[in-house]
Amino acid sequence: MDTKIIKIDETKELDLQLMDAAEILQKGGLVAFPTETVYGLGGDAKNKDASKAIYAAKGRPSDNPLIVHIPDVSWVDAIVSEIPEAAKKLAEAFWPGPMTLIFKKNDVIPYETTGGLDTVAVRLPSHPVARALMEKSGVYIAAPSANTSGRPSPTKAKHVIEDLSGKIDAIIDGGEVNIGLESTIIDVTEEIPMILRPGYISLEDVKDVVGKAAYDPAIFSENKSLRPKAPGMRYRHYAPKGNLIVVDGEKEAVCEYINAQILEAGVTGKKVAVMASRETAGSYKNAKVYTIGSVNDEEEIARNLYDVLRQFDEEGMELIFSEAFETPHMGQAIMNRLLKAAGHQVVSL
Ligand code: TXA
Ligand code: MG
Repeated sequence: MDTKIIKIDETKELDLQLMDAAEILQKGGLVAFPTETVYGLGGDAKNKDASKAIYAAKGRPSDNPLIVHIPDVSWVDAIVSEIPEAAKKLAEAFWPGPMTLIFKKNDVIPYETTGGLDTVAVRLPSHPVARALMEKSGVYIAAPSANTSGRPSPTKAKHVIEDLSGKIDAIIDGGEVNIGLESTIIDVTEEIPMILRPGYISLEDVKDVVGKAAYDPAIFSENKSLRPKAPGMRYRHYAPKGNLIVVDGEKEAVCEYINAQILEAGVTGKKVAVMASRETAGSYKNAKVYTIGSVNDEEEIARNLYDVLRQFDEEGMELIFSEAFETPHMGQAIMNRLLKAAGHQVVSL
């Protein structure tokens, strides 16, 4: 199939540029679009066949539910069976924005969209293109991240083109996203709101609004008998083809350890890479160094992470060492993604 690329021109009226994309969605087709977190692969959430097509295009397991996107809170009522008090407060505080809430669903959203679950994930993004697309089409947009299943989520249109060109009807190129990590997912169907996936909105942010909140204990545990409540957190994700190892410890010790490992690997002729902060990038010798951002700018690190993970594959890196990034607000979210990418291979010094 020919995939139409729609490049947004910010100097022109948005609605006109989204007419074709809106029509494709109304007819059950698939359109990738930018949000403030990552690019999404959108289809009509009420249309079983559109949902099935999303799974097929991504190669995604059909038990991994999709997030339903809306342009205004008033759209929630029609697709859920109840709106708990905590959800109202969280929506008031963080929507539009990088937060997804899990509600009990009603019959409007088919099981094909929710991966067979009786709950539905809902997000109100802040990105103007995403919102205009929903308002223009009137469609509740089911959208997972617009990557091939298992690869890092797309933060640029070029990543979407790499993964999905020829498999979907259209890709809207709205430039680079702001945040670069997927939304914080919060389950509000239980007594105490539970974070199922960490993101830009932290546990502390959530507690400030609702008092009590907790992480799903399975997400930071290597204990395989604990099953994460968000099905997508159970799968291998983000991993580059090369062997990625995270090295954690004091700055000097980390540099020394990685440099020694590079020397050792040199003998084998492997292509070796290091993912480092701007501050330490100059300390590594005899490897290709990828600078991910400043240790003082966690937003920069979050925004670049997936792009750098994709570059390792593009450039055929076989052995990759990464520093650990303990940042104040998004540290949990960044390390959650990085550790997944590394298959939890960590050297602690
Ligand atoms: O930032 C985001 O959330 C992006 C943009 C496009 O909005 N979307 C995104 O979707 O990350 P996806 O499909 O890549 O991840 C959705 C996650 C998966 O881990 C899935 O298992 C979980 O949300 N999820 C969806 N519905 C759920 C439900 N009813 N209960 C528990 N987890 C759910
Ligand atoms: Mg995803």
